[in-house]
Amino acid sequence: MDGNGRWAKERGLKRIDGHKKGAERISDVLEGAMECGIKYITLYAFSSENWNRPKTEVDALMKLLAGAVEKYGSKLIQNKVRFLTIGDLSALPPKTRQKIEALKQSTKDFSALTLVMALNYGSRDEMARAVSSIAQDAIDGRINPKSISWETISQKLDTAGVPDPDFLIRTSGEMRLSNYLMMQAAYAELYFTRTYWPDFTKEEFIRAIDEYKMRERRYGLTADQIRNK
Ligand code: IPE
Ligand code: MG
Repeated sequence: MDGNGRWAKERGLKRIDGHKKGAERISDVLEGAMECGIKYITLYAFSSENWNRPKTEVDALMKLLAGAVEKYGSKLIQNKVRFLTIGDLSALPPKTRQKIEALKQSTKDFSALTLVMALNYGSRDEMARAVSSIAQDAIDGRINPKSISWETISQKLDTAGVPDPDFLIRTSGEMRLSNYLMMQAAYAELYFTRTYWPDFTKEEFIRAIDEYKMRERRYGLTADQIRNK
């Protein structure tokens, strides 16, 4: 969800106004996802590097996050959306964390759609935590280092139990992954649009999904192999 700051600047507004407008767009993509029959959607809301932004912006984002969990929580329950997070929540303000945990708990049995929020998330941080946990398992004799496979690692990532993304959208014209789902997106189809996140409507989301449907996914095979399957 990129481009909130530039969206605001172009309108002579404050960066936080862009973040507020951006938060409103979340319901658009959730509606779009439900209409398209998508089962999992992950939103990169706050990265492990975003803490380095000016304190006023970080504080405002934290406040917005707490408010959004409160505001959209009942909407998620109404629509039977399961709420999950990835990232290290231990660094979030305790009250926000409590609200997040409560929402996870009250939506845990829903399966219509799963919304995963990446909060204080970064692939490198996630990998470091996973490796640390695997190393501890090895020391404690729960795992044989020779038997470690991608499966072992993926079960230790924050995304354990969540399927790998098929499609990755980045708004605002930036063409990079910025430490987002680096391993999980190994075979994801990438989609970049110049549209700033606050302008990314449900219609545009559905257009992106329509483009995804045209892509041929080969997973290292040849086009002939895929077509003759
Ligand atoms: C993305 O918008 C939202 C967050 C990282 C929270 P930006 O804040 O990165 O917007 P730009 O890139 O400055 O336009
Ligand atoms: Mg940005």
